[in-house]
Amino acid sequence: MARQPKILAFAGSARKDSTNKKLIKIAAAGAREAGAEVTLIDLNDYPMPLYNGDLEENEGQPENAKKIKKLMLEHDAFLISSPEYNSSISPLLKNTIDWVSRPVKGEEDLIAFRNKAVALISASPGPLGGLRGLVTVRSILGNIFAHVIPQQMTLPSAYEAFDDQGNLKDPAKEKRAKEVGAALVKFTSKMIQS
Ligand SMILES: Cc1cc2nc3c(=O)[nH]c(=O)nc-3n(C[C@H](O)[C@H](O)[C@H](O)COP(=O)(O)O)c2cc1C
Repeated sequence: MARQPKILAFAGSARKDSTNKKLIKIAAAGAREAGAEVTLIDLNDYPMPLYNGDLEENEGQPENAKKIKKLMLEHDAFLISSPEYNSSISPLLKNTIDWVSRPVKGEEDLIAFRNKAVALISASPGPLGGLRGLVTVRSILGNIFAHVIPQQMTLPSAYEAFDDQGNLKDPAKEKRAKEVGAALVKFTSKMIQS
């Protein structure tokens, strides 16, 4: 019988009221409903210094970077809600990727990203919903050997989009977020069987 896909889900924002954290919960629910085992984490629980080569040389990888890398290795796919900062990736998400991507002696380069499936979503208060930022995130992850699926979702006017319980007010948008989670499960299932 086919193995259940394991998906690691997180948002690239540390903010308590983050709209991307709200959106990732919905997409993660879609992935669970489609049959995946989903681990939802908050990057705020894994603080790490800004990447600095001297720090790395003197102290090695921060413990939290090692923890995130271990989690990534234990999962088949990543579901990421990425806020757009000046048309690009958030520093939190980029710094996390940077630390995890660093080579470790005796280990295959970029091992945490190779052969991983990824789906991207984004929420922003602006009219494009973070669409421009996802282009950058897609490019970064593709260049480090992850397979970013074409299905994605952007949520514009995100500060008005959720109710007090964190649900999307528009059922069509809720459906779309869940569909991206489900598309990742479908792709990942095929990947881990082949
Ligand atoms: C430095 C900075 C740059 C930003 N640049 C953009 C941008 O280019 N496009 C956009 O739609 N929103 C931009 N925003 C607004 C963010 O989308 C907004 O802060 C959003 O709430 C961040 O996601 P979160 O709600 O998950 O924390 C920017 C915010 C900051 C702090």
